[in-house]
Amino acid sequence: MILKLPKHVAIIMDGNGRWAKARGHSRFFGHIRGASKAKKIIEEGARLGLDSLTLFTFSTENWKRPQDEIRFLMLLLKKRLKRETRNLIKNNIRFDCIGDISRLPVSVLEQVQETRMLTKDNTGMKLTFALNYGGRQEIVNAVKNLAEKVKNAKLSPDDITEESLSDALQSSYLQDPDLIIRTSGESRLSNFFLWQAAYSEFYVTPVYWPDFTTENLHQALKSFQKTERRFGKTSEQLVPMPLPTQEMVR
Ligand code: FPP
Repeated sequence: MILKLPKHVAIIMDGNGRWAKARGHSRFFGHIRGASKAKKIIEEGARLGLDSLTLFTFSTENWKRPQDEIRFLMLLLKKRLKRETRNLIKNNIRFDCIGDISRLPVSVLEQVQETRMLTKDNTGMKLTFALNYGGRQEIVNAVKNLAEKVKNAKLSPDDITEESLSDALQSSYLQDPDLIIRTSGESRLSNFFLWQAAYSEFYVTPVYWPDFTTENLHQALKSFQKTERRFGKTSEQLVPMPLPTQEMVR
């Protein structure tokens, strides 16, 4: 049993292409397997009782990939979302996304909005897809929002705090991730959750995303359990210290 469950787990799903290449398949096949793996991990996250699960599904940098790969990823996203919406409802999962979705192809955008709408009243795990998402862009947009409010005299510069900036982020409905998992061995954030990752635990596994199993997820959660999150404090400050007895004071 996993005792201290992180509330919000975020995953950088990496290695679809390398997984496919190592098996002599096209990158597309790696993405198909990657999407099936996402389904399994989402269901396991909900079963375990995670409050939130965020998947880095398409980054602002991913537009630099060959056009046919982008088209394929978009089609896969649309098809899988359509197919899985019923299961999301059955599992009481609320689907949402962060990132500039206005740039997605219209048919994908429509499916995203439909799944969002059909799951909006679900009260279980919050599943977020980061789509056309970039952490820097998210921060820039939040700063623009705050600047606009200052310009219109709705906010004073002194009111700009860590909290007000967090509230201005698109992901403000989520608490910061407790655990960020990255597959395929690279220890980089790659422009994901730059602001939100300030105190997140980072778990990197060499396993390629299509090979990532529920057992691998459990390992990551167990490793999170063993860590002591001090948020800048000392270990002693985290454990309630016994009050000094009269004898000690004398
Ligand atoms: C990284 O593999 C994966 C992505 C491009 C994003 C994740 C996309 C999926 C898992 C498929 C669709 C997902 C859903 C949820 C429908 P890579 O291509 O960067 O691998 P590489 O680094 O080995 O080339």
